[in-house]
Amino acid sequence: MDFNQIRQFNFPTTIRFGAHAVKELNPYLRQNKLNRPLVVTDPVIASLDFFKSIVEALNQDGFSVEVFYDIHKNPVKSDVYRGIDQWDATERDCIIGIGGGAALDVARAMVLRVHHREDLFTYDDLIGGDVYVTGEVPFFVTIPTTSGTGSEVGRSAIISDDITHQKKILFSPKLLAKIVFADPLLTMDLPPAVTAATGMDALTHNMEAFLAKNDHPICEGIALEGMRLVSMSLKSAVLRPDLTSRAQMLLASMMGAIAFQKGLGVVHSLAHPLSSLLDTHHGLANAINIPYGMRFNIEGFEGKFLRMAHALCLNEHHGEAVVNYLFDLNSTIGIPHQLRHIGVKEEHLIPLTDLAIADFAHPNNPKPVFREDFENLYRQAY
Ligand SMILES: NC(=O)c1ccc[n+]([C@@H]2O[C@H](COP(=O)([O-])OP(=O)(O)OC[C@H]3O[C@@H](n4cnc5c(N)ncnc54)[C@H](O)[C@@H]3O)[C@@H](O)[C@H]2O)c1
Ligand SMILES: [Fe+2]
Repeated sequence: MDFNQIRQFNFPTTIRFGAHAVKELNPYLRQNKLNRPLVVTDPVIASLDFFKSIVEALNQDGFSVEVFYDIHKNPVKSDVYRGIDQWDATERDCIIGIGGGAALDVARAMVLRVHHREDLFTYDDLIGGDVYVTGEVPFFVTIPTTSGTGSEVGRSAIISDDITHQKKILFSPKLLAKIVFADPLLTMDLPPAVTAATGMDALTHNMEAFLAKNDHPICEGIALEGMRLVSMSLKSAVLRPDLTSRAQMLLASMMGAIAFQKGLGVVHSLAHPLSSLLDTHHGLANAINIPYGMRFNIEGFEGKFLRMAHALCLNEHHGEAVVNYLFDLNSTIGIPHQLRHIGVKEEHLIPLTDLAIADFAHPNNPKPVFREDFENLYRQAY
C-alpha cells in the first residue's frame, strides 16, 4: 500500500442491532416527526406474522401507514414506478424498507425516484449517472429480514430492465439509510434453503472483498471477522437455528456489505448472469460458483488464502483447504455442487459467458478474468 496516496474510508451507518431492535421503530419515527410512512416489502414477507405485527403496531400508535409489496423476485424498473405511484397518490413522508435484498433495493430505488424523475436508468452508476443524483431524498429506514446481501447498510440498489433483464446499479451516498434496525428475531423463521443461499452470499461478500485488489485494510479486517462469524454460525442457522446463530449471521451479512465497498470479484460476475438470464436467486448463484471462483484465485494470492483459512478456523491453512471447506459447507447446508442441478443447460453456458465478461464486479478481482476464464469456470461448475 502506498502511504503517500490519500484515500477515503466511509463507515457512516447507524445500526441498532439486537433482539427486539425493531420495537424502537415507532419512537424513532415520532422523534423525527414522521407520521406517514410508506412501508416497502415483498409479497411473501407481507403475508408473514412478524410483518403484520410491525404494521399493526404502527397503526395502533396512530401512524398513517401504506404498504407497497407488488415487486418481482429480481426487481425491475416497473416495480419502482408502481411504488412511486403509491407514494404520489398517498402523500407519504418517509420510506421504510423491510425485507431481504430485493425489497430493500426497490425501497432504495424509490427513495431516489421521489425527487429524481428522469428515466430511472439515467442514474445508472455504470454510465456515470450518479452525478445526476443532486436533489433531496426522503427519510429512509431499513429493516433487514434476511442475512445475505447486507443491502440495509448499502448505498446502491440493483434494479433490472423489464425487457432486457440487464442489471443496473443506482448508487449515491444519499441513498444510505438514516438508521438500520437489525433485529435477528425477524430472521428466526427464514426457511433453511433461503438461510443457506443468503448466508453463502454473505460469505462471498466477505471473501471477495478481502481479496479485491483495492487497498482498504479496514474493510479487510471487517471481512476476516465476517468470515469467522459465518464459519461459526451458518451451519447452525440452517440446521438448528437459535438466536446466537441468527444474530451472528446478521452481523456477518452487514459486515460483508460494509467490506464490499472495497470491491467484489469473479464469483459475483459468474452469479449475476444466472439471475438475469435464468432468474436464479442471487445467493444460490454465488453459493454454487464460489468454490470454483476461489480456486481460480489461489495462484499468486497464497498468503491471502492462508489468512482466510485461519479466519474460517480450518485445520489446514492453504488455498485448496479453503476450496474443500466451501464444497463441504455447500453439501452440509443443501446446496448443489453443479449448475446443471438448478436447471442450467449446456446451451446456456455461452450466453452466460457473454454476460459475465460484461459484468461490473470482476474488474476488482485480484487477478484479471478473461472471457475464456469465465467459459472454463462455467464448464467446471456445470
Ligand atoms: N444492494 C446491494 O448491494 C445488493 C447486493 C447483492 C444483491 N442484491 C439484490 O438482493 C436480492 C437478493 O436478496 P436476498 O438474498 O436478501 O433475498 P430476497 O430478498 O430475494 O429474499 C429471498 C426470499 O426470502 C423471503 N424472505 C425474506 N425474509 C424472510 C423472512 N424473515 N422469513 C421468511 N421468508 C423471508 C423473501 O420473500 C424471498 O422469497 C437480489 O435481487 C439481488 O440483486 C443487492
Ligand atoms: Fe452478493
